[in-house]
Amino acid sequence: MMIKQKVLDALNKQLNLELYSSYLYLSMAAHFESVNLSGFATWVRNQSAEEYQHAMKIFDFIHQVNGTVELAKIDTPKKSWSSPMELFQDIYDHEKSVTSSIYELVDISASQRDHAATTFLQWFVNEQVEEEATALNVLEKLKMLGDSKNSLFYLDKEMGKRK
Ligand SMILES: [Fe+2]
Ligand SMILES: [Fe+2]
Repeated sequence: MMIKQKVLDALNKQLNLELYSSYLYLSMAAHFESVNLSGFATWVRNQSAEEYQHAMKIFDFIHQVNGTVELAKIDTPKKSWSSPMELFQDIYDHEKSVTSSIYELVDISASQRDHAATTFLQWFVNEQVEEEATALNVLEKLKMLGDSKNSLFYLDKEMGKRK
């Protein structure tokens, strides 16, 4: 099977976006370490590793359909945030933009009648539902807590339990 160029280009673009996501979460981990919120740091660090796995899923799929992986420059992520709430707002917004990108990719593969790619991408469609819900859940908790240092301390502990 030979993949169509349009679909391949869109998959390579998504591969770069997943690597950027991994980089962004890693930058967030560095930020949380610097402000001694090690539970939050663990959480975003694990998320960074998950994003790398997403990138590798696409990497492997491209090879399965005899395409060529084209690695491109990865954008520099933001380095610091004024509060965990601001950071989780960024996560939520970022995941929503990733969802749009996945949807565009599904549209491209469907219009090219690439059923293999369209089916492969369903995993990402479902994953984005979970990613957006998780980000929003933490964001809502942070909004509820406001500026209370006490509750932030306990939330940090809870966030650190993520595997
Ligand atoms: Fe992802
Ligand atoms: Fe994600």
